[in-house]
Amino acid sequence: MDYMDSGLKYTPGKDKDWETGVQFLQASDNRKLEKKKGPGKIGILIGVLILAAVIALITGLLVWHFHFRKNAWVKRMYAGTMQITNQQFIKAYENSDSSEFKALAKQVKSQLKVIYSRSPELSKYYVDSTVQDFSEGSVIAYYLSEFRVPPGKEAAIDNAMASVGTLVDKGQRFMQMPSSSLILKDVVSSVLDSRMLSRSFSNYYRFSEHTKTNYNGQIQSPGFPNSPYPPNTFMQWQLRADPNNNIKLEFDTMDLEGNCKNDFVKVYDSLVALESRVMKEMCGQYSPIDPPTFVSSGNVMLVTMATDDENNYPGFRAKVTQVQHATTCGGQLKGERGTFTSPNFPNYYPPQTSCHWSIEVPTGKAVKVTFTKFLMSEPGQTKDCRKDYVEINNKKVCGEQPDQTVVETSNTNKMSVTFFSDASYVNRGFSAEFEAIDLKDPCPNQFQCRNMHCINSALKCDGWNDCGDMSDEINCNCKADDISCKNGLCKPMFWRCDGINDCGDGTDELNCGGCKSGELTCQNGKCVSDKTHCDGRDDCGDGSDELNCPKSSGVSCTDLTFRCKNNKCISKVNPECDEISDCDDGSDEENCDCGKTVKSARIVGGQDAEVGDFPWQVSLHAKNFGHVCGASLISPQWLVTAAHCVQDDSKTRYSQPGAWEVYLGLHTQRKIDGHVVKRNLKQIICHPNYNEHTYDNDIALMELDSPVTYSNFIKPICLPSAQHDFPVGNSVWITGWGATREGGFAATVLQKAEVRIINGTVCNSLMGGQITSRMLCAGVLSGGVDACQGDSGGPLSSPAGSRMFLAGVVSWGDGCARRNKPGIYTTVTKFRAWIKEKTGV
Ligand code: ARG
Repeated sequence: MDYMDSGLKYTPGKDKDWETGVQFLQASDNRKLEKKKGPGKIGILIGVLILAAVIALITGLLVWHFHFRKNAWVKRMYAGTMQITNQQFIKAYENSDSSEFKALAKQVKSQLKVIYSRSPELSKYYVDSTVQDFSEGSVIAYYLSEFRVPPGKEAAIDNAMASVGTLVDKGQRFMQMPSSSLILKDVVSSVLDSRMLSRSFSNYYRFSEHTKTNYNGQIQSPGFPNSPYPPNTFMQWQLRADPNNNIKLEFDTMDLEGNCKNDFVKVYDSLVALESRVMKEMCGQYSPIDPPTFVSSGNVMLVTMATDDENNYPGFRAKVTQVQHATTCGGQLKGERGTFTSPNFPNYYPPQTSCHWSIEVPTGKAVKVTFTKFLMSEPGQTKDCRKDYVEINNKKVCGEQPDQTVVETSNTNKMSVTFFSDASYVNRGFSAEFEAIDLKDPCPNQFQCRNMHCINSALKCDGWNDCGDMSDEINCNCKADDISCKNGLCKPMFWRCDGINDCGDGTDELNCGGCKSGELTCQNGKCVSDKTHCDGRDDCGDGSDELNCPKSSGVSCTDLTFRCKNNKCISKVNPECDEISDCDDGSDEENCDCGKTVKSARIVGGQDAEVGDFPWQVSLHAKNFGHVCGASLISPQWLVTAAHCVQDDSKTRYSQPGAWEVYLGLHTQRKIDGHVVKRNLKQIICHPNYNEHTYDNDIALMELDSPVTYSNFIKPICLPSAQHDFPVGNSVWITGWGATREGGFAATVLQKAEVRIINGTVCNSLMGGQITSRMLCAGVLSGGVDACQGDSGGPLSSPAGSRMFLAGVVSWGDGCARRNKPGIYTTVTKFRAWIKEKTGV
């Protein structure tokens, strides 16, 4: 890495002095006026006085206008690039200290001045330009232009700058140009990201890296990996490859503060921070498993990074290599079936790329294309897909589309597909499958959705949108045990009056005997007047009319209010670890290093969890046997699991710590990689009231023999406070290596599934009255999604903001994934005090 301590070529903090504007004032000289002859002495005197007053007023106005108003003018920086077609690139242009660089830069500067002078708007406010770099092709120049703009004029200047290319073309066509002048093409500029002009930067770094064949370059944020990146710093890395090569930038770590407002990294397909060439803005953490990898369209790339004064994280590291420019993509695809993807999939596709595929299946058949992944969103995209898109059957598709929902068929045995990426913002692109279908029977023995999907006929009218476009759920004759929604949908009767609008039109929640309008439904079911909300009195009898009040702190404590460390109570629901300090003593935000995961790339599909998705998931192995139960990490040394996992049987003494081996950071059973940590147990604390017949109080604690160090793969989940509310209908996650079907085999790769919390009363009637208040129900009532044997003890993870809370512990069920048989979980909130007492966590 080439470290240049020079800082940026522009210094955002220091402005030019604009006092010079005041010199206009000297033009008014009132002594000259006095010499004029007039009607009489008094008249002259009055005249002079009036004149003097007028002049003083004008002078004052001018001073105000040119001095003070100008001080309010704002600096506006534009990044720009242009192609110089009548120059050849020479090596010396890479070095800004060379005389060749300086000479060409001077020419560019003076030509820019001429260009801006052609626009009255631009010429008025133009200050100066600096050339930042040159690169091959013939020569491409990268520069920054500075303007000083009166407030309110910014948009006008932005517009004028956006069309500066036409000014150049016009100028070159219609004006006499000296033969020595540069011939310019593709002049583009856009206003610099204002965060890069922050006055709080105290350090500027600039690095450059020129890759070669068979050479791996590397860039990283200062201090990586030993210390956090520096505060209040602006950094840029200029990357070059040999001509006819592209730059490949592979991030192996990206770990920044979560808020892009404060710290961010931006990757540009340019050597200057030109917003119309930005490929990606990043902040927060990215999963190291599917790390972001970018490829440039030309032989240059720029990475910028800005930091503020607080919360500095480890930073980033990326490998820089050059890859031969791929001149073609797309092509001819023939046969019964096949697959194709956007360039570099699942890595980010390059900008400014267009590919074309011609698909041909045997004559007499038709082509069906299904997109298994479709990730082509970008900021500023329009409905009509004017930015990146895929075109099939003359129809443009863009944005991010759920897996398998973009399906197109042709009327003939041919189809063409076009991929297009514009100059800015890239994404991971698409993967697609094509197959030959019989147009007369496109879905043999299956139901054909309107979007041409084929689904199992049994899924029609089951209350679930299996097609993705609802076409399997319309025109249904609802069965007797279904709710007939007004909008024509059928939903299972058990969803009636459960507080969730399942029909979508509210039919299933009508006439539920709830409270009247103007009334508030208490958590205990009582109805009280709306007006009693937050009146300081417990009208419900359970305190629920005094929750979520404007004045949230210092309310009287009830079973439902959060108790701060100082024993004061607050009425806000679920205030803990929500990144807002609600308690006067800030105790609701204490011990909040929990429940967060790294950003996942959303690329590994199916039911497999992604690595690092659930870093609190633990696999409990019985010694010499293997995986038996799950558990959740809640602190460096403590796990929560199910009591029924630690009951002795005739062969094994599961209640003894020595029976177990604990695996943390595990993703695939039997694959013990560098992220996995193995521990033995020091003690097991089973809940004293566990009932092996009813599974009531099914919870146990395990202490590791030594604490673990947290990593991207090992992190604790947040424990909810005793008052934490997990509302019915909320989505929660179940995870584990348990059986993937009733009576089936255990999974090798950690599985995840999304289920919803189910109303306790509904659940109790479904489960034959076996549900206690220490049990929580969650599942998918139409069946098919559930925990199963081997998942016990594992977490029921509930997302709240950017964290996950431990809502439940996998406990029991009636078979697995049966219709109307939800999974039953231990209610963790009921055991919060017990956990604290036993573990101190
Ligand atoms: N008791 C089971 C075990 O030991 C877990 C059952 C969960 N079942 C369910 N249908 N949710 O692994």
